Amino acid sequence: MGEIQIRGLVHEYTNPHTRAVVRALEGVDLTARDGEFVTVVGPSGCGKSTLLYLVAGLLRPSAGQILVDGRPVRGPGADRGMVFQDAAVLPWRTVRQNIGHGLEIQRVPPAQRETVVARFVALCGLSGFEDKYPHELSGGMRQRVAVARTLAVQPKVVLMDEPFAALDAQTRITLAEELLRITDQTRSTVLFVTHSVEEAVFLGDRVVVLSRRPGRVKREFPVPVPRSQRTYEAMVHGAEAEELRRAVFECIRGEVAEGASGTEGAVQPGPQPRGRWWRHRTVLGLLLLLLGAGAFEVASGAAAPAKIHPSLRAALAADPSAALEVRLAVPAEEFHVRALQRFGVLEGVQGDRIWLRDLRPDAVGRLARLYWVRGVAAREKP
Ligand SMILES: Nc1ncnc2c1ncn2[C@@H]1O[C@H](COP(=O)(O)OP(=O)(O)OP(=O)(O)O)[C@@H](O)[C@H]1O
Ligand SMILES: [Mg+2]
Repeated sequence: MGEIQIRGLVHEYTNPHTRAVVRALEGVDLTARDGEFVTVVGPSGCGKSTLLYLVAGLLRPSAGQILVDGRPVRGPGADRGMVFQDAAVLPWRTVRQNIGHGLEIQRVPPAQRETVVARFVALCGLSGFEDKYPHELSGGMRQRVAVARTLAVQPKVVLMDEPFAALDAQTRITLAEELLRITDQTRSTVLFVTHSVEEAVFLGDRVVVLSRRPGRVKREFPVPVPRSQRTYEAMVHGAEAEELRRAVFECIRGEVAEGASGTEGAVQPGPQPRGRWWRHRTVLGLLLLLLGAGAFEVASGAAAPAKIHPSLRAALAADPSAALEVRLAVPAEEFHVRALQRFGVLEGVQGDRIWLRDLRPDAVGRLARLYWVRGVAAREKP
């Protein structure tokens, strides 16, 4: 239960306007065993987040295969939970409601839900804050709520994209220790992306180093200290851990250095400045662009009501957590998914359609104003 197999994974992003192609990943082969904690490090821009989005089913691979327990990933699913760098909590729900949210969607009976929520409140050190709203919490606590919310549904696979990056050093250490303890109990398989070699060695059963873009697995380092024996002190002062940190660091450094001497990823020099008249033209161009954008904003605001299908208001009146379908003008990209996640909970993505449920109170009107949203309707029964 929870084995991830990634074979020959390639991902290319295509700019819908210029058709320019960025190859983010090239032939990634990686297996995470059931219950294994795999940390992923690599130079910035090498495709770490892309890898997680692909396993989450938020993006479709250009080539290759991802299997979870032998079944191909075809879209997001309750068997995989994701924790983003910026805490993905619902600001209009309390700590208790946030942690229980996934269970609610799975229609777990209230009494059972309360038991699970209470367990994760305690595990994640949130006792006494159950009825607070996210804005009443510190950054570290919000991040704990996001972790608890993801783990409470006991997904087989947990995907974490630099979940502690925005926190101070002390909170990071505490949360890392807690995460070790919690995942040891839940036995989820974890893919954890981080920029910190210390964090990667402290948390992982195995540290995977990706090459610079296009990313592929450069090397894997098993961590010789069993998870049950890891205290922060032992990992900071232990000779084995120190040796491993040095090896991982050298491996990443090699990648960055090679990248800097080659042409890969190098920034092409822009045109040289051409004198004063040219600058006036640039300013005029920018002004026209701003005017155009303003007019566009007004036009898309005026067009918004027509984008909302009449069925939707009725569906939401009957059930405020009802799911809706957002149809886009272009095939959905990560940008669209992240933008729409601000309005409600992501249910699925397919082609130019994104499904959301449990919307924020004013979400429909604001959603419809987005110029790349073509229509919003009640989600039909699959
Ligand atoms: N939506 C997109 N459209 C085009 N290119 C993209 C898109 N998202 C990412 N990329 C490019 O793909 C490459 C990999 O991006 P990704 O975000 O996966 O890197 P990363 O390893 O997570 O970087 P970081 O460590 O800085 O978070 C980068 O070169 C990035 O510019
Ligand atoms: Mg990233």
